[in-house]
Amino acid sequence: MISLKTAHDVELMRKAGKITAAARALAGEMVKPGVSTRAIDRAVRDFIQSQGAKPSFLHYNGYPGSACISINNEVIHGIPGHRIIKDGDIVSVDVGAYINGFHGDCAATYIAGNVSDELKKLIEVTRQSFFEGIKFARAGNRIGDISHAVQEYAESFGYSVVREYVGHGVGSKLHEEPEVPNYGTAGHGPRLVPGMTIAVEPMINLGVPEVKVLSDGWTVETEDGKASAHYENTILITKGDPEILTPIDGDMNYVP
Ligand code: MF3
Ligand code: CO
Repeated sequence: MISLKTAHDVELMRKAGKITAAARALAGEMVKPGVSTRAIDRAVRDFIQSQGAKPSFLHYNGYPGSACISINNEVIHGIPGHRIIKDGDIVSVDVGAYINGFHGDCAATYIAGNVSDELKKLIEVTRQSFFEGIKFARAGNRIGDISHAVQEYAESFGYSVVREYVGHGVGSKLHEEPEVPNYGTAGHGPRLVPGMTIAVEPMINLGVPEVKVLSDGWTVETEDGKASAHYENTILITKGDPEILTPIDGDMNYVP
């Protein structure tokens, strides 16, 4: 069942989303050569808690961090730890915050030091594929319209779209219906209705679309070892333009 949010629910989701987006911005500013992924995770956790919220990911299905930090060929769900960010790395940070009964969920890929033009382009196109997708996030359209637009855009640059992981509804639970794939057929899938809140999150690979999960049970890497980028916001379907509930103002660091 797809849960529709009331005006009051949306107010609360704006609050959760704002905290989540600020946590992403904070993490993005910390992405620099020499910084450990654990330091970023701690800062994200401390910030979210300082706002009276809880990190959505901490202990979710046993996940040990407050952020997912995925570097270069890692796609998603990288576990923060001793790893030190190096010059030239691209670093995907995914965060979630829960407050007053609702979650926010967002992610972006950031650059550390001098990053190749090839990787900067991958990040830019991944981010833009989100905006291409949400052009179709309008009442009366279908999920497949978003999915198709993301895929068309990303593949037009020769990149590939991860299939095994998809976007999702978000609300009182971190993962709700419907699934929001980043590939698919226009005109297919659930119809979009005002009050739906969904996380649209393209995961785009430089090489092949296939991915594998490491023996830590979490980290998802590209099968061919080439780079991957991620971009995500929680959005609200309205009677007009979609509203981004994890607002991107002030987070300029993701633009390479
Ligand atoms: N943002 C991720 C998602 O959209 C959630 C990370 S999974 C967790 O699915 F277990 F780490 F929380
Ligand atoms: Co998500």
